[in-house]
Amino acid sequence: MKTKIQSLRDYSNDYHESVVDPEKFWSKIADNFVWKKKWDKVLDWDFETPKVTWFENAELNLTENIFERLLPTHENKTAIIWEPNDSEAAPIHLTYGELFKATCTFANALKAQGVKKGDRVIIYMPMVPEAAVAMLACARIGAVHSVVFAGFSATALADRINDCEAKMVLTSDGNYRGNKNIPVKAVVDEALDTTQFVEKVIVLKRTGEKVEMKKGRDFWWDEALEGQSDRHEAEPMNAEDLLFILYTSGSTGKPKGVVHTTAGYMVFTYYSFLNVFQYDTDDVYWCTADIGWITGHSYIVYGPLLAGATTLMFEGVPTYPHPGRFWEIVEKYKVNQFYTAPTAIRALQVHGTAPLEKFDLSSLKVIGSVGEPINEEAWHWYHENVGKGNCPLVDTWWQTETGGIMISPLAGITPNKPAHASLPLPGVQPIIVDAEGVELTGNNVEGNLCIKYPWPSMIRTTYGDHQRCKDTYFSTYKGMYFTGDGAKRDHDGYLRILGRVDDVINVSGHRMGTAEVENAIDEHPEVIESAVVGYPHEIKGQGIYAFAICDGSDKSPEVLEEEIKQLVRKIIGPIAKPEHVQIVSGLPKTRSGKIMRRILRKVASRDLSNLGDISTLLNPEVVEDIIKGAGLD
Ligand code: WTA
Repeated sequence: MKTKIQSLRDYSNDYHESVVDPEKFWSKIADNFVWKKKWDKVLDWDFETPKVTWFENAELNLTENIFERLLPTHENKTAIIWEPNDSEAAPIHLTYGELFKATCTFANALKAQGVKKGDRVIIYMPMVPEAAVAMLACARIGAVHSVVFAGFSATALADRINDCEAKMVLTSDGNYRGNKNIPVKAVVDEALDTTQFVEKVIVLKRTGEKVEMKKGRDFWWDEALEGQSDRHEAEPMNAEDLLFILYTSGSTGKPKGVVHTTAGYMVFTYYSFLNVFQYDTDDVYWCTADIGWITGHSYIVYGPLLAGATTLMFEGVPTYPHPGRFWEIVEKYKVNQFYTAPTAIRALQVHGTAPLEKFDLSSLKVIGSVGEPINEEAWHWYHENVGKGNCPLVDTWWQTETGGIMISPLAGITPNKPAHASLPLPGVQPIIVDAEGVELTGNNVEGNLCIKYPWPSMIRTTYGDHQRCKDTYFSTYKGMYFTGDGAKRDHDGYLRILGRVDDVINVSGHRMGTAEVENAIDEHPEVIESAVVGYPHEIKGQGIYAFAICDGSDKSPEVLEEEIKQLVRKIIGPIAKPEHVQIVSGLPKTRSGKIMRRILRKVASRDLSNLGDISTLLNPEVVEDIIKGAGLD
């Protein structure tokens, strides 16, 4: 069996085989890798506990499969191209040979600072090659990394540090983002004031900002590297040893640490990268995500490097210093595969096609989309203007929890259908169920999206709280992994993802839990209760709309609204700041005291049709007040 699918027929055959005999299928893919010890059993699982073991008792180190496996052929091939925020500044090209040395040196530095196998290391860094090196160095020594998006607040960072009891934080002095210079070290300092686990902080000099360095705790990156050898013998890892924890928001409570383990994640990110993007040997591949999100983990760092690809990392933002920056980069490096989010497409769409016309995009072979449902208009704009009508567009559906792309066209192989994630990858068995969990077979059906069989890169647990993993993903429908998304299978059998069916809002491709934002709002001394909902937003996909009851305040609603917005920004980060805050006298509740979010969503969407029967509410009179307050009467 070839690893790379080359035709629709290959796809059908491989898909069929992957369902009939999944263990045989995945063992053949896994045979591409070097193992210190082979597995006793490919898969053991039950979705009840849940417990999933892939490649039982095998031993390996993921980085040996990037370096030792590939160096004989890839030593001088560019592994990472780094394009800095400032378009005038010099880029960096790292070959596989150079990246290997950098990884080993940093691995030795981490060990010298006392990091051991199994320790948790937080990476709170800008999009620089050192961030990728840090991830790989952790994997090399068996430390568990947890990358935290560097736009999160000190409180959010501290929560994550506390949850995983991280021993070390890797950060930088400042962080360039467009015309901003964000003082990230100061955020780390603030976070560390409220945590007790972190023993050391290693700080990369990026902006030259003056920062406070706490003696005995904080070290400069260069200092840490001094005298370290560029050779390092990889730590043997069990297939199911933790590779990383990545925090993500859900419907309830604080963000949870999604746990990914070594072998299954490695096999699936490699396989999905090669097949979805149809990467060819000399291609330059670019994913615009941040490594703070799963997309950056799987499809900037691990998948591409395991496949021996040249992966481009961009430090900046799409519109700086001009709205054609993405296209300038595509031209500059002759990018062949370009992978971004619908929100970026919509933001660039606003600038029209003029910024695109200045640059030569003829190198592009494949364009991709991830993070949220892509609306048909954005799909066509992207396809016609960026892909010039002849690049396959891969709309890739997946999640932090799935580790890799689950449902997507394979570029140039699966016929393109606008706004459809289309077909599952081999090894992925999605089903659509009704509210009771009954599978809806056949075409032209719509319901909730579940996965009925394990795949190698699936979530293993939520860090420190296995029950939460069970409750969140494996309890809604017995014996299935529930995605939290709605989906439709159309008359051709192609899947279209309809978006979240739970209390998760997707803002610019970033997941926010309504409860998380509500908790932040409730910290305001004058807020008694709040409710947060999503509403359709032209650029961001969804925007955050908050309703808050305030008491005993002499402040005007405008002042309170602004204070609440700033508070959320401070507690979670700028990405969670509500677009709208409405001060209300009450929240519509059912007789059992549950907030009727359906009504709030209608108000936030400025669409009062089908408001439904409100007479059964505990307090129907507040609905009119809320409608009035929103200026909709
Ligand atoms: C949504 C990002 C429609 C979905 C990789 C999912 C999508 C959530 C798509 C996961 C897509 C992601 N079409 N919706 N192509 N890709 N989503 O964990 O709601 O940040 O559940 O992972 O994003 O977001 P996460």
